[in-house]
Amino acid sequence: MTEESFDPKIHLTYTPPTTKYTFDDLSLAQFPTATPIAASTPFPFLTPAGILAYRKALTSPAIAHHCAHSPYKNTLVLRNVAKYSSFIHDLWTHPETLRIIADVAGVPLVPIMKYEIGHTNIQANGTSVEEMLSELTAEPATSTVEVTEAEKSQDPVSGRSVIPWHYDSYPYVLIVMLSHTTGMYGGETCLRTGDGSALKIITPPIGHAIFLQGGEIQHLASRAIGTTERITTITSLRATTPGLYDNSYLTNVRPESDLGVLYREWVRYRVAKVVEEMGYFEGMLEGGDEKVDVETVHRVLETQIGYLRRTVDQVVSYELHDAVIGKYGVHAYYAAEEYWEQVQKCAGFGELVRMSEEKREFRPGSRLWADLYASRMMVENGGVLRGQVGVVKWDNERDYVMGDELLRQGLREVFWEWVGVVGLDELLEVSDLSEL
Ligand SMILES: [Fe+2]
Repeated sequence: MTEESFDPKIHLTYTPPTTKYTFDDLSLAQFPTATPIAASTPFPFLTPAGILAYRKALTSPAIAHHCAHSPYKNTLVLRNVAKYSSFIHDLWTHPETLRIIADVAGVPLVPIMKYEIGHTNIQANGTSVEEMLSELTAEPATSTVEVTEAEKSQDPVSGRSVIPWHYDSYPYVLIVMLSHTTGMYGGETCLRTGDGSALKIITPPIGHAIFLQGGEIQHLASRAIGTTERITTITSLRATTPGLYDNSYLTNVRPESDLGVLYREWVRYRVAKVVEEMGYFEGMLEGGDEKVDVETVHRVLETQIGYLRRTVDQVVSYELHDAVIGKYGVHAYYAAEEYWEQVQKCAGFGELVRMSEEKREFRPGSRLWADLYASRMMVENGGVLRGQVGVVKWDNERDYVMGDELLRQGLREVFWEWVGVVGLDELLEVSDLSEL
């Protein structure tokens, strides 16, 4: 099966979104890692020919063979598709596509890395990967299923969401709908605003896209009902603006990725960013004979150090990653925050953690201890501490401990290692998690 060549004149269409929300509109603080446009309403992006060519590319045997897995029932996920489809690769890297995205975002963006181009979520009926792959056709399905009145009126936030409240791994995202939505109920993206309420963005019709700073805004995807298929394709992006650093984490994607490939691309783009930034800075310093501004030197280089530190920390060793997934399972990995909340309620928790810290049982001499003390001081003084799960809210009712710090840093593998060393898994077994 030969693929079509991507041609923006044939496959793209664009009308700017009717509404763009700023952080201000959502009553949210805008951090230095963010840019003003927080999200958009759906806008036309792919032509009918573009939808067909994209879906055709997704049905190729190479993608079925290399990219498909099923993280949970009735869900098929395709990752690393740009490696096996030049149509999809060319679409997401074409100057015309990037011009459209920049127009919506208000800043120039590029895909964060090749691995994350065209991540595709398929809600299907089958149970096995093979069954679900066989449901995937180039032509979008038009069949609908009966929906009860009660189902129609279900609140997307209180209902069983497909993906509960979360921050994305990367700063920006474009979500494109590849299925018909006539007869579909739910499937909205909800944004958490500053006053705690949810702002609902309607499901994009087929061929439409929505833009979101998903790494900066907490959001959820509600379950879609009423249609036999729901296919969305998602590309994560970062800004190319000098001095603007992406606040990315690999925490949520490590278990669903080929780590060797993911790490290589991650390190490459991070190092390229640092090289670029160092080039600008070197240029700024060149030739001047006035006294160098010490404050600027510290600020610029400390930012680089922090960026590189995150780069390194997110590259968790293959051995530890495999050991933790092997011992506790993927479910526990993703439920780490839930487990952490529950285990704190067990008798003996505080004592066990305190004793372990005193005895330095866990990784003695590790920089993680310095990180812990710095963060502890910060929360005790009421400072703003950000992490993989957003701003750390601290009421000072107990000590800020290593478990908090490891989850803040998005190091779930190290968190589970620590749980084992301290012996918390004897207070609350991981197998009890599903009953919580
Ligand atoms: Fe998301």
